Amino acid sequence: MALTVALIGSGAIGSRIAELLDAGNAPGILLAGFVPHGDAGTGFSFDEALDVADVVVECAGVGAVAEFGPRVISAGRDLLVTSIGALCDGTLRKTLLDDGPGRTFLTSGALGGLDAIAAAAAGGSIHRITVESRKLPAALIQPWMDGETRKGILATTHPVELLRGGPADMIKAFPKSTNVVSALAVAAGDWDVVEAALIADPTAKQTSHHVVAETSLGTLEVRVTNQASPDNPASSALVPHAVVRGLKTLANASGTFI
Ligand SMILES: NC(=O)c1ccc[n+]([C@@H]2O[C@H](COP(=O)([O-])OP(=O)(O)OC[C@H]3O[C@@H](n4cnc5c(N)ncnc54)[C@H](O)[C@@H]3O)[C@@H](O)[C@H]2O)c1
Repeated sequence: MALTVALIGSGAIGSRIAELLDAGNAPGILLAGFVPHGDAGTGFSFDEALDVADVVVECAGVGAVAEFGPRVISAGRDLLVTSIGALCDGTLRKTLLDDGPGRTFLTSGALGGLDAIAAAAAGGSIHRITVESRKLPAALIQPWMDGETRKGILATTHPVELLRGGPADMIKAFPKSTNVVSALAVAAGDWDVVEAALIADPTAKQTSHHVVAETSLGTLEVRVTNQASPDNPASSALVPHAVVRGLKTLANASGTFI
């Protein structure tokens, strides 16, 4: 089945997705264009995206999911979300997951094991999920941090825990770096069961996530160590490939893991 795709976000993830599609990595998937950020006034518009695209892929940030997501699915188009932390907002979550007629899909992104957690949630119960994420300090500097805090994080010579909490706490403080925490909550079908810790680690060569999910069907432990995106140290190089894999599954599921 041919699938036409529009992208919201042309940063590290969006531009890599476009490269992969243009290079023919996903035969039968056509990239219609990027929806520009702000009032660019030129090129492809969001309305055009809704006219031509079967799937609109968000790779822009949590704000863009709230801005565009409900309109995508109410127009009967499918939405593929990378900024899963946007679903911490219960009203938006309900709109995207329960309303239609378009469908909302979530990328596996930087993480593995979400399928097994979702299966355990469907067939049993999730007792507890912990996730510890480590990133290089420079990738965790945020606009809300004062000069002293930034300096301390950048100068640390040992790992420092910057925040511990649930999905909403994490996404509020580190909106570009903690989408995996919300992804685990979606997989569990429970927004209170995930406890996350975010660590600035000057010795970390790569971003890593250590997930332990205790369920009634067994314990799942996943350790992922990701290369950073060459264009954005806060994002993993794996994410655009996860998105393209998802698009290929939507276009032709034969032979894929679902
Ligand atoms: N699910 C995951 O595992 C995972 C992992 C990494 C990143 N992400 C999400 O992906 C997002 C994008 O990552 P990136 O590395 O490409 O970031 P980036 O900063 O390199 O690029 C973001 C792009 O989106 C554009 N943008 C922002 N708001 C927009 C809007 N309202 N409309 C149109 N364009 C808009 C920006 O101009 C920029 O070009 C992150 O913000 C994060 O939320 C998810």
